Amino acid sequence: MKAKPFLKWAGGKTQLIEDIKGQIPSTFTSKSFTFIEPFVGSGAVLFWILQSYPNIKKAIINDINTDLTNCYFTIKDNVLDLIEMLEFWELEYHSISNDDIKKKEYYYQKRELFNTRVSQQTIQSALFIFLNRTCFNGLYRVNRNNEFNVPIGSYKKPQICNKPNLLAVSKLLKDVIILNGDYSDTLSYSSENTLFYLDPPYKPLSNTSSFNSYAKEEFDDSEQIRLKHFCDTLNENGHQWILSNSDVKGKDPKDNFFDDLYSEFKINRVTARRSINANPSKRGKLTELLITN
Ligand SMILES: C[S@@+](CC[C@H](N)C(=O)[O-])C[C@H]1O[C@@H](n2cnc3c(N)ncnc32)[C@H](O)[C@@H]1O
Repeated sequence: MKAKPFLKWAGGKTQLIEDIKGQIPSTFTSKSFTFIEPFVGSGAVLFWILQSYPNIKKAIINDINTDLTNCYFTIKDNVLDLIEMLEFWELEYHSISNDDIKKKEYYYQKRELFNTRVSQQTIQSALFIFLNRTCFNGLYRVNRNNEFNVPIGSYKKPQICNKPNLLAVSKLLKDVIILNGDYSDTLSYSSENTLFYLDPPYKPLSNTSSFNSYAKEEFDDSEQIRLKHFCDTLNENGHQWILSNSDVKGKDPKDNFFDDLYSEFKINRVTARRSINANPSKRGKLTELLITN
């Protein structure tokens, strides 16, 4: 079985894979290389690339979201215990699928326990996956105290444990280095032939519409500019990078934020479908940017 993302995650890149593939220089199909994904999220690109490029000799992933990277660590090192817990909770949750009051009680109890953050890592990861599968639209949102505050979703019998996939992901992660910090920390893991895929929180298309908060920390325009400086450093060090972001110019032709910021690099516009958006009318086609050096 092919491994695929084990979470629903805003900005999941499954729809963009063909376009990303088109941007990978042919030198990476023959020689061995290091792959680094500093904003890994649910890992759509990671799983695809690890299963498509057997010549990857080293892979490093990172995300600032500790709840998320804990899941990666657990799946890598303790997948059987995780599966056992999720299977048990799935049985319990499905057994009350016709009783909305009991389901709510069950969900909010798990959410409360998750937010105490006192459980050991495997339980905490199982709680995270449970909440992701049962909450409203698979959203991740925390308040200032880092408390997950998404309400229950309306799924009748959601799949909570996809055992074959978790096992496949675990196998794939065996040799992957997992980091939990700022994206800039990944630079020291690069080597001679390195490809970076950078998928930061997208710049919102309007002040109110888009959702780009995955962690307590905001990713605002000054963060987008800091990331560009990181791309400059990668370029100066001879590393190849591919970066995705929203196409603010597609929405407002006068908005040249990324066209100006990345003017010395290659800016490609591709069509993609957004999968997580609370407003169904905004789930349509949009152009996105794939920028490379
Ligand atoms: C657009 S998502 C990545 C989506 C991913 N490519 C996928 O397919 O699911 C952006 C990710 O960047 C992470 N992030 C935000 N700020 C960060 C930072 N300063 N350093 C590293 N990761 C960060 C978020 O937690 C989030 O998971």
